[in-house]
Amino acid sequence: MRAVVWHGVGDIRVDQVADPKIRDPKDAIVRLTRSAICGTDLHMVRGTMTGMVPGTILGHEGVGIVQEVGSQVRNYKAGDRVLIPSTIACGYCSYCRAGYNAQCDNANPNGKNAGTAFFGGPKTTGPIDGLQAEYARIPFAASTLVAIPEEVSDEQAIPVSDIFPTGYFGAEEAEVRPGDTVAVFGCGPVGLFAIASAGLLGARRIFAIDHIPDRLDVARSLGAEAINFDQDHPVAVLKDLTGGVGPDRVIDVVGVDALSPKSGPAAKESKQMADEFKRESKEISPKKKPDGDNWVPGDAPSQVLLWAVESVAKAGTISLVGVYPETMKTYPLGMSMMKNLTVKGGNCNHLKYAAKLLEMVRAGVIRPERILTKHEPLTEVLDAYRHFDKREAGWIKVELRPAA
Ligand SMILES: NC(=O)c1ccc[n+]([C@@H]2O[C@H](COP(=O)([O-])OP(=O)(O)OC[C@H]3O[C@@H](n4cnc5c(N)ncnc54)[C@H](O)[C@@H]3O)[C@@H](O)[C@H]2O)c1
Ligand SMILES: [Zn+2]
Ligand SMILES: [Zn+2]
Repeated sequence: MRAVVWHGVGDIRVDQVADPKIRDPKDAIVRLTRSAICGTDLHMVRGTMTGMVPGTILGHEGVGIVQEVGSQVRNYKAGDRVLIPSTIACGYCSYCRAGYNAQCDNANPNGKNAGTAFFGGPKTTGPIDGLQAEYARIPFAASTLVAIPEEVSDEQAIPVSDIFPTGYFGAEEAEVRPGDTVAVFGCGPVGLFAIASAGLLGARRIFAIDHIPDRLDVARSLGAEAINFDQDHPVAVLKDLTGGVGPDRVIDVVGVDALSPKSGPAAKESKQMADEFKRESKEISPKKKPDGDNWVPGDAPSQVLLWAVESVAKAGTISLVGVYPETMKTYPLGMSMMKNLTVKGGNCNHLKYAAKLLEMVRAGVIRPERILTKHEPLTEVLDAYRHFDKREAGWIKVELRPAA
């Protein structure tokens, strides 16, 4: 079969690889009818999420048709249409049963304390071959797969495999309550779903921070108040717009590849931080391999953390869903302590939300397919990666379809 294979930092290819096979009675094999490229994949290609094993198939967002099931998979049969959430979970350990499926005791082959097991990730997460492929092996299929209601199309379902639940998780971890003011840093696909989700949880005012005009436009269309960090100082504007209080809740949906402002009133301050940002960047990802303007890691890993802690209201909550690898060590701890902040977040517990969000889509509460701006065949995936990596206008979210 064809699949997107990670060979090294800055080196991904579409290869012919062996079809996956059932290895355990709990496995299923799914034929992918939709996949997608995520901001997390970009960290792996840029080298800011370290520990990838050459030969790993990328991708952790998928929708497909069950081809074959192992003897312990009793709730699905060949021909069923299923959603494949990014994280893998046994469904019976104490963590899964309490809704922390991203910390499942059994799914990660590296052991109970290894943390999240997800498709197409670094060694510490499995590695388990991913979903940017024609077929995939799904471990713990009975609890990992989610049935898709008949009225929900593949295109509507694919955002529910990762970006919608992650946005929702981000808003829930931020403890968004009716009436709250909420700031969302990062208006990529996950940030846009964090905005929509904060709205669903009753936020009164939502502020959206990024510097890409078409992403800020989508944020505005979702009801957010847009702040371009290359034009305004986000901390000053957030304080101004909230009578000096700051937003009650801040959601970081940027992560390790954060950029510093290159113009406007925030640029000078960030320039003074340049040496510190460089030191962090070196510590996080010693191996980088930019190719022209592709695969360039962010130049300010802790920028959003700093802005989040500075801007949030006293005794407010910060939720971190943008990914920081284990090598990231910087957080403005003193300021956070002195403001009595709560900090939450982590890897999304997709299974806690997937069925509920699919039901919201079925009921017409939300139209998640609006975020999918590009639909590319798997054969064009490398080009699509390059456009999405450069955050070109119009390349907000790439959905991948099987090659003709
Ligand atoms: N926690 C989880 O389970 C989970 C799941 C999925 C994705 N993620 C992470 O969420 C993050 C976002 O994913 P995405 O697909 O939307 O990625 P993306 O790369 O498309 O979006 C990131 C956005 O952040 C913006 N940005 C950069 N620097 C900024 C700054 N200083 N201030 C404000 N905005 C800034 C960029 O312009 C871009 O629009 C990534 O880190 C991804 O790894 C986490
Ligand atoms: Zn993802
Ligand atoms: Zn479990």
